[in-house]
Amino acid sequence: MTMSWTLAVARDDLSRTALSELAVPECGAGEALLRVDRVGVTANNVTYAVLGESFHYWDFFPAEPGWGHVPLWGFAEVVASAVDGVEVGARVYGYLPPAGHLVVRPDRVDPRGFRDASQHRAGLPSPYNSYVLTAADPAYEPDLEDLQVLYRPLFFTSYMLADQLADNGFHGADVLALSSASSKTAYGAAFLLKGTGPQVVGLTSPGNVAFAESLGCYDRVLTYDALHELDATAPTAYLDLAGNAEVRGRLQRYLGEWLVREEIIGVTHQDRTGAKELNGPRTAVFFAPNQLRKRVEDWGREELDRRFAEAWLSFVPSVRGWVDVRAQQGPEALRDVWLEVASGRSEPRVGNIVTF
Ligand SMILES: NC(=O)c1ccc[n+]([C@@H]2O[C@H](COP(=O)([O-])OP(=O)(O)OC[C@H]3O[C@@H](n4cnc5c(N)ncnc54)[C@H](OP(=O)(O)O)[C@@H]3O)[C@@H](O)[C@H]2O)c1
Repeated sequence: MTMSWTLAVARDDLSRTALSELAVPECGAGEALLRVDRVGVTANNVTYAVLGESFHYWDFFPAEPGWGHVPLWGFAEVVASAVDGVEVGARVYGYLPPAGHLVVRPDRVDPRGFRDASQHRAGLPSPYNSYVLTAADPAYEPDLEDLQVLYRPLFFTSYMLADQLADNGFHGADVLALSSASSKTAYGAAFLLKGTGPQVVGLTSPGNVAFAESLGCYDRVLTYDALHELDATAPTAYLDLAGNAEVRGRLQRYLGEWLVREEIIGVTHQDRTGAKELNGPRTAVFFAPNQLRKRVEDWGREELDRRFAEAWLSFVPSVRGWVDVRAQQGPEALRDVWLEVASGRSEPRVGNIVTF
């Protein structure tokens, strides 16, 4: 019998992992069986684990008590199906477990793809439950699979963030300061924001300044220790991907009333201690699906898809030069990559892909 596998992480210690072998799951009536083929791992996946309880990321792919299956973005192949329109051999892109296989219950099947209507996913945000059939995806190109796996969900956030800011007159800011400027989500947003009006400033760790500068999408790059070099009398919006309370507190004290907006986007620094206490009337938690919903109402899904595809295709030529794709193979490699990314040891230039 062909075997499958799962990689679980301990919810209270993300460096504790359990790799298990198990039988390939059965595909029952109304179900399809996906074989996980190619996934990416970035700080975003670590954030899914850090926020696993509060944002229900652990609920997508249930694990044993105390353990979690960290959601990953990637490609899978349909290897069994009891559902019309979801054919064996089809390739899909979507939210996948760190596992050899995933059983889905396809619903709303159309030529573009389907939703997983499994009971345990019913209350979770719909963008995470949708699987796109590559054969009908206008933005899909086989030789861009690695870039799609690494960037598409992140660039979607970058796009929605840049759009939300422009949609709101940049909240009156003349300066946009992004933390974790070396992260894919931050520099994707900077790529879209540069030249639209406000000055775009990247904040990063000392070791990542040269990388962030080399991208050319920030007007200025500063280390977290050099916040005092920001203009203290310019209306500034802070786009926080690091989630570092110490940095944010220092920025609040330095800018005072000139800090006109704080968008809380990520927690790459993994420590949320003290962050909640800093929230005030100008703080907003940014969640890409919310702006997505607004734009679907404003523009319609098709126009949104067209605009996003245009932005994505304009980003691809640049990002090709910004990332060194490192592809590895097998469940053990996934565990090693997870441990490296979760510990913050990976270089921002490296894009980690694992195939199975
Ligand atoms: N709200 C939303 O809808 C949404 C959607 C997508 C992504 N996000 C968030 O955006 C953030 C960026 O994700 P990404 O996948 O784009 O990241 P990435 O490309 O993997 O970013 C790597 C960078 O994150 C920082 N970092 C990573 N691990 C660290 C650690 N252990 N300690 C300190 N710094 C660490 C470093 O940046 P610096 O040295 O520059 O700080 C590093 O260069 C994540 O928190 C993600 O969850 C939010």
